[in-house]
Amino acid sequence: MHRYPTPFARGEDDPARPLPSEPQAETLKWWQRAVIYEIAPISFQDSNGDGKGDLPGLIQRIDHLTWLGVDAVWLTPVYTSPMLDFGYDITDFCAIDPLFGTLENFDQFVRLLHARGIRLILDFVANHTSDSHSWFAESRSSRSNPKRDWYVWADPAPDGGPPNNWLSRFGGSAWEWETKTRQYYYHAFLREQPDLNWRNPEVRLAMADVLRFWMRRGVDGFRVDASAVLAEDELLRDDPPDPDADEKTPPPQRLKRIFTDDRRESMAYLEEMRKVIDEFDDRVLLGEVQGKTDRIGHFYGEERPRFHLPLNFALLDTPWDALSLQANIDAYLNAIPENAWPDWVIGAHDKHRIASKIGQSQARVLAMLVLTLKGTPFFFAGDEIGMEQVAIPPECIRDPFEKLVGGYGLNRDPERVPMRWNEGRNGGFTSGDPWLPMGHDVAERNVEKLKVDPRSLLWLYRRLISLRRSEPTLAAGDYLPLRSRHGLLVYKRVCAGNEILIALNTGHEPRKLESPSAGTVLLSTYVDRDGEIVDQSTVLRPDEGVILKLRT
Ligand code: NOJ
Repeated sequence: MHRYPTPFARGEDDPARPLPSEPQAETLKWWQRAVIYEIAPISFQDSNGDGKGDLPGLIQRIDHLTWLGVDAVWLTPVYTSPMLDFGYDITDFCAIDPLFGTLENFDQFVRLLHARGIRLILDFVANHTSDSHSWFAESRSSRSNPKRDWYVWADPAPDGGPPNNWLSRFGGSAWEWETKTRQYYYHAFLREQPDLNWRNPEVRLAMADVLRFWMRRGVDGFRVDASAVLAEDELLRDDPPDPDADEKTPPPQRLKRIFTDDRRESMAYLEEMRKVIDEFDDRVLLGEVQGKTDRIGHFYGEERPRFHLPLNFALLDTPWDALSLQANIDAYLNAIPENAWPDWVIGAHDKHRIASKIGQSQARVLAMLVLTLKGTPFFFAGDEIGMEQVAIPPECIRDPFEKLVGGYGLNRDPERVPMRWNEGRNGGFTSGDPWLPMGHDVAERNVEKLKVDPRSLLWLYRRLISLRRSEPTLAAGDYLPLRSRHGLLVYKRVCAGNEILIALNTGHEPRKLESPSAGTVLLSTYVDRDGEIVDQSTVLRPDEGVILKLRT
């Protein structure tokens, strides 16, 4: 690998921008007030009967977004791709794959969203391309090609094997041999997803232009894919074994990724990306970051800004009980810089559906939790109707992760199955054969059915989103935890003399709530006691959450 000087050394004329101080409701940025909805277009709505969702389909369903009240949509990749990793293997960062439609469809989608006051965030797959990208075709063609160094090439070890022990996340060595030029190239994911060499300034310039291309088309921000793995150790030092790994650990996770992940250089590249974002007004940069809570704060950057919102999966990774929730929320808030804006993700295309883990009654409690915590809430299309993991018969498996590292519960197909709109054929998703099975509960759990029941989970989401908008304390107020005991998670949101108390019964038995003062119920997860006046002592029913406006 070539060595380059450390990029973006900051000059005197380029002072670090301070992070904003504690905001009041009216001064919050849009992405601080927003409720953000992730859509994997391939699973949202098919318009042409090929069994895969597309942009015209998304446009047909745009009213769902307005009805639900979300403020922004994050789309998984829609760029040209052989789809080996369902769009995360890209051949042209500035073109729409015909599977999804055209650039005109895309522009129309942006216009329609903006006309409804909804922002659009795109995935930015910075770490790698497809091996069918023209950049890689050039790079692999000869050692002297000007794009050779756009990817990470290394000589074989003395025995002719891979340069070191680094593992691909999707199984096997992270190095792939190229007979023609007699070197290995590095791939953190599939062998068909060669890693770009971010040390090369030309790569960074080209990728900055990709960001500008989409921002000029009106895109409001990006979610940077795999942001922690942009740079690898220049000395190619071997990763050590993970002492906590055993035979139940998936093989690609048996080394500690000290030399491939979360390197200091990657942070500098994120700072540079952020500067590009800041060339445009009011855009947002989100990041898929290192999974561990204790590293997340780092991705905000204090003196030199990196992400506005490093995505936080703490609520998905915690055991589901009040004590663990209270501890995990606290650990996360403790791990981020004092003035950083929090965020909370409860569903995503790589994460098992949480309704399967906690059950439908607690899925309502979770909805209340994520929409009343301080910080930007994220959920994944289908969470609002309580979609669960769908069993995938072996012959229907599509996820390369499962195909290559099977047997460890890693398959992401079960959470990626198509959205169900009604109880008709294929849930109204497609007139053809859906790309993944629809599941057996389409008749009970679909948008049309839940929409006619004002007490359904779908309505609860809608009510919570609307309450968050009408009660600025819920969007902007400080978070004040109370002591959670006996299965009740309790906290307040406080702003300008207003106090809202949230009490969530994480168990299946009734529980007594002792509130600091009497108050009025703004919403219960049962959606049946709006406006009820409650004393300091009241009982929460099994699996009930309540939002109380306290008398102050
Ligand atoms: C993270 C994405 O979320 C995931 O779906 C993908 O497989 C990997 N990055 C590789 O791009």
